[in-house]
Amino acid sequence: MPYILTSKNNYILGIESSCDDTAAAVINNGVILSNVVATQKIHEQYGGVVPELASRAHQQNIVPVVHEALRKANIDKNQLSAIAFTRGPGLMGSLLVGTSFSKSLSMGLGIPLLAVNHMQAHILAHFIKAEGQTAPKFPFLALTISGGHTQIVKVTDYFKMEIIGQTIDDAVGEAFDKSAKILGFPYPGGPLIDKYAQEGNPKRFKFPKPKVSPLDFSFSGLKTSVLYFVEKEVNDNPDFISENINDICASIQFTIVDYLMDKLKNAAKQTGIKEIAIGGGVSANSGIRKALKDAENKYGWITHIPKFEYCTDNAAMIAMVGELKYKRELFSENNITAKARIEF
Ligand code: KG4
Ligand code: ZN
Repeated sequence: MPYILTSKNNYILGIESSCDDTAAAVINNGVILSNVVATQKIHEQYGGVVPELASRAHQQNIVPVVHEALRKANIDKNQLSAIAFTRGPGLMGSLLVGTSFSKSLSMGLGIPLLAVNHMQAHILAHFIKAEGQTAPKFPFLALTISGGHTQIVKVTDYFKMEIIGQTIDDAVGEAFDKSAKILGFPYPGGPLIDKYAQEGNPKRFKFPKPKVSPLDFSFSGLKTSVLYFVEKEVNDNPDFISENINDICASIQFTIVDYLMDKLKNAAKQTGIKEIAIGGGVSANSGIRKALKDAENKYGWITHIPKFEYCTDNAAMIAMVGELKYKRELFSENNITAKARIEF
């Protein structure tokens, strides 16, 4: 059924359910009116996301989260112009909940459905209008760093993206979370490493940086070297971790951030692009945020760092992509299915 875009004043509902956060947001002309996230606590005790439990929690959360997003935006569902949802990549059982819900809602309301690529959304979150934020200019490089991805993407237009570098094994968020697990932190431990790192000496312990091709990443070796290092030290002193937690965290974080920056420098050199944006959960990390700010003076880069609430998984970024697609009439058919693996 063709849809006729009648009004310029569109309200688009975004729904995100790719991993362990159930989220909904409403956008109106680039401005986020509400951004609600229900983070699933159940996984903490298992040291990682349990897909079955995530899917079940999404089913419980999705209706109240959407209600709350509409209430906070102060609109009725009948005022919505379209429904945007995360189609992938992500956990299949989690994606299915958001996809089925969005399809039903768009059908029930008789409004268009807009399928969104989660990784594109982390990048396009930079176009949300917010105080103190400037949108990147094309072309720009996006470093997307999350629990599932580590990529350098060359962005030449809203929907023209090319992955020019990526991890060959673990994602950077996994490197943070697995190192944190070795130190005895609950899942996800990335933010805790960040917290302790702020009081520590980043040069105290040295961890090797893996050698792969200039724009690619490898993180699986880091967790192994953290494990061997901690095991050896604890063998000599059982209180080693608690006595040195700040320096251990600062040293791990320094190694990771320095490695990410090395790769970004290579990408900037190779492409000649100095407009740099970061996105994804790990872009909440204070070390990478500072390194990027410092790079403005050091290398003449123009950098874009998202607000905290648009770094980790959220539906505002899904609503943002929804709005961009809506204006271009890039609607999805109602028989569209979720997709666990999806490229740009
Ligand atoms: O984008 P995201 O919310 O979900 C995925 O799509 O994966 O990213 C979650 C990841 C987790 O690995 C978490 O530990 C990491 O982002 N993270 C951080 C910080 N905040 C979140 N890692 C390091 N420092 C932080 N401050
Ligand atoms: Zn994400």
